[in-house]
Amino acid sequence: MALDIVIMAAGKGTRMKSARPKVLHQLAGRSLLQHVLQTAAALGGQRIVTIIGHGADEVQAAVSAPNLVFVRQMPQLGTGHAVQQAAPALHDEGTTLILNGDVPLIEETTARALVAACGGDKLALLTIELPDASGYGRIVRDGEAVRAIVEHKDATSAQRNIHEVYTGLMAVPTRHLKRWLGRLTNDNAQGEYYLTDIVAMAVADGVPVVATQPHSETEVLGVNSPLQLADLERRYQRARADALMEAGVRLADPARFDVRGELSCGSDVEIDVNCVFEGRVELGDRVHVGANCVIRNARIAADAVIHPFTHIDGEALGVTVGAGSLIGPFARLRPGAVLAEGVHIGNFVEVKNSTLAKGAKANHLAYLGDATVGERVNYGAGSITANYDGANKHRTVIGNDVHVGSNCVLVAPVSIGAGATIGGGTTLAKDAPAGQLTVARAKQVTLTGWVRPTKKK
Ligand code: UD1
Ligand code: MG
Repeated sequence: MALDIVIMAAGKGTRMKSARPKVLHQLAGRSLLQHVLQTAAALGGQRIVTIIGHGADEVQAAVSAPNLVFVRQMPQLGTGHAVQQAAPALHDEGTTLILNGDVPLIEETTARALVAACGGDKLALLTIELPDASGYGRIVRDGEAVRAIVEHKDATSAQRNIHEVYTGLMAVPTRHLKRWLGRLTNDNAQGEYYLTDIVAMAVADGVPVVATQPHSETEVLGVNSPLQLADLERRYQRARADALMEAGVRLADPARFDVRGELSCGSDVEIDVNCVFEGRVELGDRVHVGANCVIRNARIAADAVIHPFTHIDGEALGVTVGAGSLIGPFARLRPGAVLAEGVHIGNFVEVKNSTLAKGAKANHLAYLGDATVGERVNYGAGSITANYDGANKHRTVIGNDVHVGSNCVLVAPVSIGAGATIGGGTTLAKDAPAGQLTVARAKQVTLTGWVRPTKKK
């Protein structure tokens, strides 16, 4: 049977006080709406109909999912009016699940249970008991049976004492939904078409109304303000941190830890405070990440140590750090940095699109771009590859056991044979032969009898 999913995302989000549409604000590195779309895709929605309005073009350009279609709602005359716009895009039979673009953390299992409760012939509401229910639609029951949802502004004072509220999520037999939507009116305190009025219609039509609950409040919290966004971000990060710690990862402080993507860890991994992991990051067994590191799209093999303040950004190409390598403090690894086992990259060293073979070392103040570096190479402080001629990038090839002295400029394309030594201060513009000392710098002179100038009186 068809499962269609409607996501409401037309609202303005006035309380965000932002030019950006509310559903495009980021939580854990993805927009609120993209979180919901990912859940919708995981549920296997045959049609995912997203209702947009404020910032429609921007929203449409920013998100993606399989089977996604957009429907515009302008002006916004209420949640019922929103779903009316989506109705023509839905199948005639099957179930429609209604989600909210600003309720990002709804879990797949909760949504599945809601759809299962609908069973194709009942109206299923996701409800929750809240100590402070103000602002929410109240679930009005007659004994056990749900009779209606009454919006806060329309509720009597007795109804306002009800703590069971509608979360904004429901699953409805599509054929009934289409019928009921046609009967909505805006005769209420806000002059809006309320989707929630379909509950009383179901009761009148003898369609059973059932309610299920999420397993945590976090799942159904909406984002309306920067404060709520930050609160949800911390709840999300805490859950990720807890899951990692349960798997044995040792976090110095779960409150100072952020994952914006996928982080997988081997055993005995230790992560100090204030680290941010973005995209896909893999940490092998016994990897140690020092404080204040930002790591994006990287694979770090067993026993590597990432010292504090290191920035690793693999972007699209990725970064690989070999087993037992020592990186940082204050190192920068950029896309295409591929380091083999036991490589040392020290402070203020930048590596981009370069491979470093086993045991190679660049310990201080250096740049390696578009380079192939052999085993056990020692790359001196202050040395750089001049890989860019202003138009094109060129490669530098450094053989095994080469020693590059301090403050060298390797003007690419250039290669250095195995075992060669390049004297400090060399600007190397031609290939250097294996096993020899090559040095290119002005000859040192001493001027005898020279006198340092003194200040005129
Ligand atoms: C709605 C429910 C209320 C529930 C609460 C849960 C209705 C009438 N009320 O109230 O029972 O307790 O959510 O948070 O449904 N939207 C549109 N187009 C519109 C109006 C809204 O797309 O014309 C979208 C909003 O962007 C938002 C969602 O629908 O994502 C809910 O709208 P909102 O105005 O927040 O409804 P509430 O008044 O909070
Ligand atoms: Mg709301």
